[in-house]
Amino acid sequence: MGEYIKTETSDNTALVTISREKALNALNRGVLEELKTVFEGLSEDHAVRSVIVTGAGDKAFVAGADIAAMAQMSPEEAGRFAQLGHQAMSAVQNCRKPVLAAVNGFALGGGLELALSCDFIYASEKAKFGLPEVGLGLYPGFGGTQRLSRAIGPNRARELIFTGRMIGANEALAWGIVNRLAPPESLMDAVLETARDINQKGPVAVSLAKQVINEGKDESLQRGLDLERDIFPKCFESEDLKEGLAAFLEKRKPSFKGQ
Ligand code: CAA
Repeated sequence: MGEYIKTETSDNTALVTISREKALNALNRGVLEELKTVFEGLSEDHAVRSVIVTGAGDKAFVAGADIAAMAQMSPEEAGRFAQLGHQAMSAVQNCRKPVLAAVNGFALGGGLELALSCDFIYASEKAKFGLPEVGLGLYPGFGGTQRLSRAIGPNRARELIFTGRMIGANEALAWGIVNRLAPPESLMDAVLETARDINQKGPVAVSLAKQVINEGKDESLQRGLDLERDIFPKCFESEDLKEGLAAFLEKRKPSFKGQ
């Protein structure tokens, strides 16, 4: 168990909680290093079929990169901080398991960048989203300029980044940042239910689908389709595929082993 990140696995779902509540779960070097290590481990963990990321407490998912820490940084140190931030966000994005963000409060700056590194986002109706960095004299440095533009289009991303405006959960839903909203007290149930649905499916197929979506999304349609076709046969190398097809033909529920 790390200093800043708690991980509990139950019924094949790992719950990762950023636990630095007194600073609204802000991302300092320690949190980022732990985040990277935890996600590299979960990626290879056979007991885990899906991952949920949330923030400790009922106020914040993550309120951004640690402002007090950045106040002490030279440009060289800031470059290394951004590099570590990128490594942590990439570890989340490239985790072989689906990663669901449960945004339970403020998701600002590095917090929104973390949520955008997940596969999709469910949020509390009270959540707030934004990239307020320009108000501090910097710009989003953990992937926000790129991931937000790709998620909601460059025009809306420019508006959020240039104004630093915070938006509420309904606007985030309308803009396509969030997939689903829930009352604060039932957010975790909603995310867990979706994780359970995913866990019932063939883990090899889910993981390969994530890989193809991620590798193809910034390519031309043709290159993405080529990737889909090239990786498709890998499903046929798995025990899961044999089990899934046999279960269908035998009119029973499949029992996938994730291999
Ligand atoms: N870094 C460090 N500490 C933070 C923090 C952050 N990003 N956000 C909040 N905190 C700390 C506060 O300093 C405060 O600490 P103390 O109790 O020791 O004073 C504690 O968390 C509680 O915060 P507030 O008292 O400010 O709570 P509030 O309810 O009045 O306001 C808030 C909540 C609107 C989220 C406000 O805390 C806020 O604006 N936080 C900063 C948000 C922000 O600008 N994030 C972007 C950071 S830059 C970034 O992320 C760069 C990047 O992309 C790499």
